[in-house]
Amino acid sequence: MKKGRVFSGARPTGRQHLGNYLGAIKNYVALQDAYDCIYCVVDLHALTTVETTRDLRNNTIEMVFDWLAAGIRSDESIIFVQSHVPQVTELHMILSMVTPMGKLTDLPTFKEKVRMQPDNVNYGLLGYPVLMAADIALYKANAVPVGVDQAPHLEFTREIVRSFNYRYQCKVLVEPQMVVTEVPKVIGTDGQQKMSKSLDNHIELAATPEETQARVMTMVTDPARVRRTDPGNPDVCNVFSFHKIFSSPDEVAMVDTECRRAGIGCVDCKKLMAKNLNASLTGFRARRRELEGHPDDVMDILGQGAHRARAIAEATMAEVRDAVGLP
Ligand code: TRP
Repeated sequence: MKKGRVFSGARPTGRQHLGNYLGAIKNYVALQDAYDCIYCVVDLHALTTVETTRDLRNNTIEMVFDWLAAGIRSDESIIFVQSHVPQVTELHMILSMVTPMGKLTDLPTFKEKVRMQPDNVNYGLLGYPVLMAADIALYKANAVPVGVDQAPHLEFTREIVRSFNYRYQCKVLVEPQMVVTEVPKVIGTDGQQKMSKSLDNHIELAATPEETQARVMTMVTDPARVRRTDPGNPDVCNVFSFHKIFSSPDEVAMVDTECRRAGIGCVDCKKLMAKNLNASLTGFRARRRELEGHPDDVMDILGQGAHRARAIAEATMAEVRDAVGLP
């Protein structure tokens, strides 16, 4: 017996990188054992910020390849594209009636977007969190795994759900819990900022072993270690953070000791890390190649996912329309 239903959404950002994997996908995979999981590609949310929609389809399928290859099981979990279940837009509209404007304009995420795209402060952007609340509420999710940056949105969702149930004197919508998981903050190859595609400091899961190694070789290490003979400090080295994830305990101990006494240089240290990283991605890459050869199967998976999602969505909407008193 499962503990309840998990829902999570991710914008279609194309090929996923190690930061996406360690920060979200790995957790999505693990949650399948304890929960009924629904994972959604939020293409409508993406519309609030993208300049062109040209790559939306391709970015969706590339992301879904990665999800499936990483171990999201489409026979159990529901994987689908947000816009394939249009009920979410109806719930979005209904929830907007219990959403105070001031709450939306106060959200740090909204303010940030206004700073980032001052020439494109559209209505959809303001309603972004309402659409997210609609996602979660439509599927009556009990638990939502999100990173800390999304915590205000989840708290907002809980408020909207309470307001709806109170306004219409019902118990139709379910207040979701936030599942906060211990996830390492994955720093990019620049050794400074969070790994992200837009900063081009990322390592793609689907890259070849050669590309991966080349990328690792560009990683910034302890800046104080200039010459090969200088002792290094693994505590401030991002390559060492990756060793801790991908290398054996013996290797981690060796690198720790040898770096500090300049016994190992950064080049060899990176080569070892790249080798271990590549080894851990072997199964993933084989599964991904298999899927890439059958893109129609992946479209079928998304079609079936949408079909299963629509059944849940329509049941919720019937209750919602009734609770609201729509004629
Ligand atoms: N807002 C989330 C993000 O930017 C994406 C998202 C949309 C989401 N709907 C969701 C996350 C529902 C969790 C649940 O990452």
